[in-house]
Amino acid sequence: MKFRQAKWDEPLIFERSREGSIGYSLPEPSKAVQKMLPKPLSIIPKNLRRKTPPLLPELSEPEVVQHFIRLSQMSYCIDLGLYPLGSCTMKYNPPMNEEIVKNPQFSHSHPHQDCSTLQGVLRILFELQQWLSEITGMDQHSLQPAAGAQGELAGVLIIRAYHDDRDELKTRRHIIVPDSAHGTNPASAAMAGFDVIVVPSNKQGQVDIQALEDAVSKQTAGLMLTNPNTLGLFEQEIETIASIVHKAGGLLYYDGANLNANLGRVRPGDMGFDIIHTNLHKTFATPHGGGGPGAGPVGVKQRLAEYLPIPIISFNGEEYHFDVDHPKSIGRLHGFHGNTAVLLKAYAYIMRMGWEGLHAVSDHAVLNANYIMKQLEGIKGYSIPFASGVWRKHEVVVSAKPLERDTGVTARDVAKALLDRGIHAPTFYFPAIVDEALMIEPTETFSKAELDRFVQAMKEIAEHAYTDSKRVCNAPEQTSIRRLDEVKAAHPRTMTLSWRMRQQRIK
Ligand SMILES: Cc1ncc(COP(=O)(O)O)c(C=O)c1O
Repeated sequence: MKFRQAKWDEPLIFERSREGSIGYSLPEPSKAVQKMLPKPLSIIPKNLRRKTPPLLPELSEPEVVQHFIRLSQMSYCIDLGLYPLGSCTMKYNPPMNEEIVKNPQFSHSHPHQDCSTLQGVLRILFELQQWLSEITGMDQHSLQPAAGAQGELAGVLIIRAYHDDRDELKTRRHIIVPDSAHGTNPASAAMAGFDVIVVPSNKQGQVDIQALEDAVSKQTAGLMLTNPNTLGLFEQEIETIASIVHKAGGLLYYDGANLNANLGRVRPGDMGFDIIHTNLHKTFATPHGGGGPGAGPVGVKQRLAEYLPIPIISFNGEEYHFDVDHPKSIGRLHGFHGNTAVLLKAYAYIMRMGWEGLHAVSDHAVLNANYIMKQLEGIKGYSIPFASGVWRKHEVVVSAKPLERDTGVTARDVAKALLDRGIHAPTFYFPAIVDEALMIEPTETFSKAELDRFVQAMKEIAEHAYTDSKRVCNAPEQTSIRRLDEVKAAHPRTMTLSWRMRQQRIK
């Protein structure tokens, strides 16, 4: 399949602006209506009035539509094909979810509305709290966190509140994380004021039990773990791990960014975990990427319920309401009540899947990851590090180290060359314990034909690397923009995030 991305020399919308163009037409209000309306300026206090009109682009409606459609043609999306971004669970997002959240009874509700007028949506959110507890094996949930990383922070703050309540916070300063952990885990622990202790993985790619025994002490506040871990391997010793941490007086935090392999089969609460966050925007389908939107509800065992972030949705037998009466809560995480649209989409997804459907998700997600592993196993240039012969769960990490050693073509080059074949790059250089890592998560939503297309592309790229490595190192060629300067793109000092910043830079 040939792939060529559209290339538009599209200026910024401000650069397209022409004075006097307008993108709307409203009828003039009748004289009678005009009389009834206050003069807009008269109701704004003088000191709050603008001196100059707002700096907005001036365009006609078709020009605005053209602009955004052109930009959309220059990017890749999940509806175009495989998006095997390991750890990120980029799955097909049913458009019906969008239809549901667009219902004005949801989309027109306002966070300041009185609870009595929000009973329907509150009931849904209440039920979602219960379903998430059922799915994860926890007792209580708060839907507050707006992303996975915020859910983690909430979880670690709960660990802090728990130890503080027992007068042990001064001594319990350590949060243990395995070296395969997602970067947000140590970051969340550090933000909550803890010291991070890293435990190494063993040769099977799992937590080294001896190293964990050596790391725990009276200073242990908790352990953060994801299971299956980021190598796609299930931590077989999870019950031993839980017992070591609990015996030392610590709590177990489950990074539930990704539940695709667990759905309907195994629950973190039953593995011994005390706290979990779940990325609804991954496992429970919501378009995400580029920073949002997301929802990372946090769930706990009963003994920690009093620390959950508020408000929690409660039902007093007659009415659903925002419950803020939790004096020991870690508090609010933001101004209002969470990312309701994402929560509603997760509810719609779970309801339509049902328990059997969720079970089928984990079946197919695991099958697909292992299919890819088996197909890539024998290809010259790639290797499958850790635990050879062991089935993976929802994702598989492949190393391009042999390719890099033989030809100089790196994991990054392979990722870029995939773009030329109309396939989104997998996550690369993560987890950091694998050299030249390519982390592939196909999810349950792509067909065998699409997986075969991916395998074929990986094979072709490896073959090209051995015959014309320079060309592979030069990829991508078919995308609207060639290789980006990734350092520059991530450097806050050179980021130009608004038209005003751009104007200042040009000056
Ligand atoms: C394992 C893991 N934990 C945590 C996160 C953080 O989630 P979010 O991006 O919603 O903040 C991610 C996101 O990629 C992840 O893969």
